Amino acid sequence: MSRYIINGGKTLNGKVKISGAKNSALKIMAASILGSGKVTLENVPDIEDVNTMVQVLQTLNAAVEFDREKNILEIDPCAIDVCEAPYELVRRMRASVLVAGPLLSRFGRVKVAVPGGCNIGARQIDLHLKGFEALGALNSIEHGYVISSVDKNTGGDGQRLSGATINLDFPSRGATENLMMAAVLAKGDTIINNAARETEITDLAGFLVSMGADIYGAGTDCIKIRGKKELAGTKYRIMPDSIEAGTFITAAALCGGSIEIADAIWKNLEIFCLKIKEAGIDISSASDNTIKVKKTAKKLKPVYISTLPYPGFPTDLQPVIAVLLSVIPGISIITENVFENRFMYVEELNRMGANIKIDGHHAVINGVEKLSGAPVKAFDLRAGAAMVLAGLVADGTTEVYDIYHIKRGYEKFEKKLASLGADINLVNDEYKHV
Ligand code: UD1
Repeated sequence: MSRYIINGGKTLNGKVKISGAKNSALKIMAASILGSGKVTLENVPDIEDVNTMVQVLQTLNAAVEFDREKNILEIDPCAIDVCEAPYELVRRMRASVLVAGPLLSRFGRVKVAVPGGCNIGARQIDLHLKGFEALGALNSIEHGYVISSVDKNTGGDGQRLSGATINLDFPSRGATENLMMAAVLAKGDTIINNAARETEITDLAGFLVSMGADIYGAGTDCIKIRGKKELAGTKYRIMPDSIEAGTFITAAALCGGSIEIADAIWKNLEIFCLKIKEAGIDISSASDNTIKVKKTAKKLKPVYISTLPYPGFPTDLQPVIAVLLSVIPGISIITENVFENRFMYVEELNRMGANIKIDGHHAVINGVEKLSGAPVKAFDLRAGAAMVLAGLVADGTTEVYDIYHIKRGYEKFEKKLASLGADINLVNDEYKHV
């Protein structure tokens, strides 16, 4: 059982480089299924979720090689002949369901384990399935698996999906991505209305276009796709991870010093950076995609935050910024609008001395003077990162348990923090869950 041991109160200084975006890499890896040649991906983060997606692709019989030192991943999809994402892998990582769109599009059939709930909410895939149906697939649920196959009678030609207009009830990121990948090899044109606008979706579209796909409007709420008969292999560089950038910005705001964060794109994180600024933190960006956070003598102010799909405030940074707000005097309020169960970490933060009350999907944060170190656990990936940040600013020693959640999405997290001056150590021993 590994855990982090953090001795808080150290000032952070220096420069840190952000890794490739997890939520872009996973989808682009899934999209490589669509090509008829080898795909080379650069800037792929060496994290557990990427390892899981490698396993998903290997289960399908794709050939995959990952150079972890160079962050280069090669995928040869030519030998894929299995169209099933097994429960064991979907259970471990929900994003495994993102192979459904590409498999359905290329082979006309797919079988994917239905993901259950997770620590942040129910997270259904009904919008993905409704979209597949609109594209001519028939869905059935049997023994915990969704089976989708192209239906000749509803417009498909026995193998290919057929383009359609899809109106998403909610701008789900996963559904937009799955349907975009399903539509690129469909017969005819597809329009996705009320599409998610996240920058990772633009990155996925950029990758698909580099394979030869016709996609217009990615990054807006209306994406138009003209289906192609075949897509080629390609070489592509994954964009930097905005959530990792936001995590380091918050670490700097809590414990800086003066920190330069390289490969941090301000416009992808604008609303978050503006909230950090509104709280009184000295944050600025340079044209070379560097964000600088400096110590300020100013008194910090509480802020109100409401999470929303992009370009709104990212739900993934909600637990992270809550740590900062918990030590800013006054009342801050966070409203969580994307997931119904994303305040699980609050109890742990309160055990460290924070004063946060939950009322439905609102968190009322009464800023305290300081947090005090304690043993805490990571409830999920971002909540885990939040616990580490709390440990960095707290008095005394904090032990963060269940850090396998953090390993899913942050590359060399403790090493990057230690390089800035944090006192954080990874310990592997027999300690049990708290
Ligand atoms: C992605 C991100 C996750 C981020 C989230 C919201 C990845 C791997 N994960 O998750 O880090 O927190 O976007 O920005 O990219 N919903 C339905 N039916 C559906 C699909 C979604 O009801 O068919 C609901 C979900 O339960 C949730 C909301 O819509 O409440 C948002 O989900 P979605 O945008 O799909 O998030 P994910 O793609 O799962």
